[in-house]
Amino acid sequence: MIGAKLKIALLYDLWNEDPVAAAAKEEAGATRKPHKKVKAIKKEKTDREEIFEALQKLGHEPSFFELDGRPASLHSLSRCDADLVFNLTESFDGDDTKEMNVVAYVDLLGLRYTGAGPHAIFMSQDKAIAKKIFAFHGIRTPFFATSYRGRIEHAHDISFPLIVKPSWEDGSIGIDAGSVVKNIKEMMERIEYIQDEFDSPALIEEYIEGREIYAGILGSYERTQVLPLVELDLSRLPEGTPRIASYDVKFEKNTEAYKLTKSAIAENLDEVTRKRLEDTALAAYRALKLRDYGRIDMRLAPNGDVYVIEANPNPWLASRQEFAMAAKASGMTYVELIGSIVDLAMSRYLNANLVNAAAMH
Ligand SMILES: Nc1ncnc2c1ncn2[C@@H]1O[C@H](COP(=O)(O)OP(=O)(O)O)[C@@H](O)[C@H]1O
Ligand SMILES: [Mg+2]
Repeated sequence: MIGAKLKIALLYDLWNEDPVAAAAKEEAGATRKPHKKVKAIKKEKTDREEIFEALQKLGHEPSFFELDGRPASLHSLSRCDADLVFNLTESFDGDDTKEMNVVAYVDLLGLRYTGAGPHAIFMSQDKAIAKKIFAFHGIRTPFFATSYRGRIEHAHDISFPLIVKPSWEDGSIGIDAGSVVKNIKEMMERIEYIQDEFDSPALIEEYIEGREIYAGILGSYERTQVLPLVELDLSRLPEGTPRIASYDVKFEKNTEAYKLTKSAIAENLDEVTRKRLEDTALAAYRALKLRDYGRIDMRLAPNGDVYVIEANPNPWLASRQEFAMAAKASGMTYVELIGSIVDLAMSRYLNANLVNAAAMH
């Protein structure tokens, strides 16, 4: 199938932003508030349109498929006859804890799709679970505790400064200058904020001062390639602001924080450190069973220790984002990057068929 012309459905999520409907839902007992709204708007369309164009240039036949949060959109997905689903979903009806359910459903329908399976999405999204798996594999990650409505599920003997974040969200939702806390009072207040605002357990982690490095990875299982490392330079943030990729830094174009920070290919890394970053990222990618493409977020401490902060299955593919930037630095055009994600996904299914066929003989 590789090289053939494919019908590719670009699957993405949108949801009903009608405030009356949202209020009714809350009344009906939905506990999680959708928090992706703002981010979705900030994304200014593009990634799916860019991918659509790239797929056309590759000679495929792309189409858009929207999941709008209603069961009817799930029903019509069951009739999708695409050769491959290019999965850009991040939530269902604005609830990002349901991202894995969408993928599991696509799986159940027997459709082929790009990117991570439901288990990998689950393990990565629940940052506390990801950190426990990292620890098993000897991958360094900041010591942590979790707290939810007064219950503690796990607690290392951690010391200040700490960062308090929702243990489930991504896109830096709930992460701002107040996230880094220096004493018990600040910590307790921030835990309360996370619970009230996101109804999410709070992940309380040791704050690692250091360089912020992202590793994009392409491939699956043993055949993976680490793309050139990208650094988000946070050093120009105003004095007194914690050096973190807050919501403002990532999305709020009109803020100082956004304007003063930028991502670029990481420079000034000696070979040993570079290798350590790459090996750590690969180990994290494999530990959480990511596949096709993913991005591992790390901190490089001044003493050279590498900490994994989190793993992102199916990272944002807009051409100006870190993943595409890394691919470009490795010599790939954007169209080639999209093509290689398609090929990686298709070859997984092809290989699975070969394995099954071999088993039958
Ligand atoms: N333990 C930590 N030490 C230092 N900085 C951190 C830590 N955890 C998070 N950060 C900062 O906050 C940002 C967002 O945290 P992250 O866990 O990656 O959340 P998200 O899933 O929203 O991207 C990171 O990119 C980093 O700048
Ligand atoms: Mg992150």
